Amino acid sequence: MPQDSEAEASQVQQNRGVDPDKLKLFSFNVWTYKMGEQVSMMIHLGDRLGLYRAMAGSGPMTSDQVAETSGLDERFVREWLLGQAAAQLLDRNEDGSFQMSNEAAAVLANEDSSIAFAAGAFRGGTEPSVIDAVADSFRTGIGVTYEQQGAAAAAGLARMTGPWSRIALNSVILPAMDGVVAKLEAGAEVVDIGCGAGVTLTTIAAAFPNANCVGYDPSGTAIAQATERAAELGLGNVSFIEAGGEDVPPTASVDLVLTFDCLHDMPRPDLSAVAVRKAIDPDGTWLIKDIRSTGDFTKDQRNPLLAMFYGFSVSSCLQSARSQPDGLGLGTLGLHPKRAQELVADAGFGSFTKHDLDDVANLYYEVRV
Ligand SMILES: C[S@@+](CC[C@H](N)C(=O)[O-])C[C@H]1O[C@@H](n2cnc3c(N)ncnc32)[C@H](O)[C@@H]1O
Repeated sequence: MPQDSEAEASQVQQNRGVDPDKLKLFSFNVWTYKMGEQVSMMIHLGDRLGLYRAMAGSGPMTSDQVAETSGLDERFVREWLLGQAAAQLLDRNEDGSFQMSNEAAAVLANEDSSIAFAAGAFRGGTEPSVIDAVADSFRTGIGVTYEQQGAAAAAGLARMTGPWSRIALNSVILPAMDGVVAKLEAGAEVVDIGCGAGVTLTTIAAAFPNANCVGYDPSGTAIAQATERAAELGLGNVSFIEAGGEDVPPTASVDLVLTFDCLHDMPRPDLSAVAVRKAIDPDGTWLIKDIRSTGDFTKDQRNPLLAMFYGFSVSSCLQSARSQPDGLGLGTLGLHPKRAQELVADAGFGSFTKHDLDDVANLYYEVRV
């Protein structure tokens, strides 16, 4: 048989039972993820190079004007702009100029003022060495800690969760908790467990100068970033300790404990919960922020971004939660309300209130003795 016909025959063999229309749709679905990878890189560049900031609130701009304002090369900027228009992130006008809508500015440019800011979550990819370590975890069963995920991951996380922590914390989240703001104003003892790069705790420390704030995280890299942030802000009422939640001292004096987006990352959240019970004042509040999930995969599928959360889990959260052999391995979607309530009850807490504060990614739990 001639070589061409052999190849054709082999293709026919492979495609037997394949519906051509379904094949096209399936291929399209797969390639949209490749497109997402490419567009993610472009969003990273737009954020990193100040392109979005140059366009926010500026009305229509030609590629020359965007390049000049941002001090960049016009030809590369033009190609990037066309790609942004193709991705429907920027608008292209009939005269060939480009424009950023107010909504795009809120999501892509206005980091300090917009709770919807998301561009900071686009880090431009994961270091190859971390991807290798993640692949190894499938063979060994032992995952990569946040410390091993590196400095860029800690900084990226802070920018991803930052808008809610910085903007909604004092205006929405803390006021929803019974009596917490009054205690903070009077001078509460605050402990933030799994504080990461310290965005949440420095926000509280800055807003409530009478509060005494201490952050804990086992990642030295995150603690260094948090300490630097506090120093930059000139805060004298906040300090950070490189240690896990299990090691918080049993003082029975803490008025407010925070665990933000981290219990599901801990190998042993049960041990941290016991430590929180021993550290908290009998009248204190434990505020848990954790990923919105139901514990039922079918119901969770109503979340159109569910696959992204599983991606976060396999590459980061479950890695950390299985970074030691006795890790419970909750993973990103593992701390649903029922699980959270069991966890705190097992540690000796009697009161558990779920708050839905309009945060699309998270639920908040107010826990008391
Ligand atoms: C997704 S980050 C959240 C950081 C921060 N709370 C925020 O909201 O941006 C999860 C953090 O949990 C920390 N972590 C992992 N295991 C921990 C443990 N056993 N005790 C305390 N924190 C832990 C990680 O080092 C990481 O900084």
